[in-house]
Amino acid sequence: MHTKQLDQYVGQEVTLKGWVANKRESKTVVFINLRDGHGMCQCILGIDDLGEESFNEAKSLGQESSLAITGTVVVDERQIGGYELHASKIQVYQNAKDYPISNKEHGIEFLIDNRHLWLRSRRQWAIMKVRNSIIYAIHNFFQSQDFVQMDAPIFTGNAAEGTTDLFETDYYGKPAYLTQSGQLYGEAMAMAMGKIYTFGPTFRAEKSKTRRHLSEFWMIEPEMAFCDIFENMDTIESFLRAVVQEVLERCPAELEILGRDISKLETIAKPFPRLSYDEAVEVLKGNKDVDGQNSLKTLEQDLLDVEARIAEVKTDIAEREAAIAAGGMKKGAINFNQNKIDSQKQDLKQLEEEQRNIPNWLKSARDFEYGSDFGGSDETVLTRLYDLPIMVYDWPHEIKAFYMKRNPEDPRFARGVDVLAPEGYGEIVGGGERETSEEWLVEKINEHKLPMDVFQWYLDLRRYGSVPHSGFGLGLERLVAWVCKLDHVRETIPFPRYYGRLKP
Ligand code: 4AD
Ligand code: MG
Repeated sequence: MHTKQLDQYVGQEVTLKGWVANKRESKTVVFINLRDGHGMCQCILGIDDLGEESFNEAKSLGQESSLAITGTVVVDERQIGGYELHASKIQVYQNAKDYPISNKEHGIEFLIDNRHLWLRSRRQWAIMKVRNSIIYAIHNFFQSQDFVQMDAPIFTGNAAEGTTDLFETDYYGKPAYLTQSGQLYGEAMAMAMGKIYTFGPTFRAEKSKTRRHLSEFWMIEPEMAFCDIFENMDTIESFLRAVVQEVLERCPAELEILGRDISKLETIAKPFPRLSYDEAVEVLKGNKDVDGQNSLKTLEQDLLDVEARIAEVKTDIAEREAAIAAGGMKKGAINFNQNKIDSQKQDLKQLEEEQRNIPNWLKSARDFEYGSDFGGSDETVLTRLYDLPIMVYDWPHEIKAFYMKRNPEDPRFARGVDVLAPEGYGEIVGGGERETSEEWLVEKINEHKLPMDVFQWYLDLRRYGSVPHSGFGLGLERLVAWVCKLDHVRETIPFPRYYGRLKP
């Protein structure tokens, strides 16, 4: 029996087991918001129903105390979840004291240090539920399209995505690497099964602290035989659309807790813009407009708007502070104004961050050099112009992985595709068509100075029944961050691992 099943027990007596999320009390009643992992239920514990001893015990419970509450289920639309429990009995497992995380503002480092507890808070709960629904939707999509889920090894002898960010381990006295991507194995499995997808942990020694990078993250990597880059893009598009749609259906309450503007997700039903790298560079540098919007001019305007807002908010805060300081204000009015000031200060922090960021983005877009890869800032500038994910394809081959197929009509370009999520999120998917020619692959392996011997098995795939094939990799945490509109990927995974972070 749990809180999500209360609708089946209206008017009946049930027992809920959970933790005290919060509590308030009067002389004769204690109100406990009981959190049981599935949801929340307000429980009303009256002195007359419980008896004095149990009532006093209830009154003494600290936040996150664990207990079972028996009582009658009553419909109450005003309550979270729509029901409340009129208690007749409690059984306390543990009365917890001094729970470190309270409702007040905690710094992010403190919260991450206490991740093992932070996971219990409402926002984190909602994010984990969305993550779970995304995982469910991913399997649903691929299974319904006859893909076979297969697992790639985690210990590998070769790099898939460049040698700079490999984690080396000791494998019975020999070096091995934690996998950066299951793709190369995925290609072998696709030649056996037609269409496969892997879903596993991947590792990148990224010595940078950005809001998009983890050292350990989960990647979904489909691989399809007899598939070119354009069919690949069709698959990516219907895949992302299906996943977002399913999250909208399964997680309305969670998205509401997160304050997510779901209209931004509902738009994802429209076709995704597809731009070649060359076109994307033109848009980025402000040489080409998107729906009448220019990348540089909108940023300049945004900066002016942000500065105007900052001035407004500062004046408002100053006025309220002066009014409180002047004295003579009623207690309720002081509280009201103080709360306003606190929330204005939060807004101010965000605005000031934008004020700092926009000039950097502008500079990055102006100085962008044709032929280089997009950095985080470039992706932000580009994606702020669209309300849909965009697919950028045909990249300069020099900046892409060794296995990318060259465009037969213009071999300056490799047939890679990156999907950049809107609202400034940037890359969530990287993929492309794979090189089929053994000769070209050998050339690339040499060019990238990779050890030829460990790739012999991979070259076999081109020697025995080589076919056009494509695939992609979706970073689960990046998708969760965008769907939930989070500032940072560290909140998208139960226990994040990133540069400098191995605890808890
Ligand atoms: O673009 P990437 O490096 O592509 C590959 O690994 C290909 N082998 C995939 C394939 O074609 N099968 O990584 C794919 C995705 C990125 O788009 C991003 O979403 C995610 O993996 N990703 C990361 N997510 C979090 N932290 C990191 N350090 C990430 N690096 C990549
Ligand atoms: Mg990439």
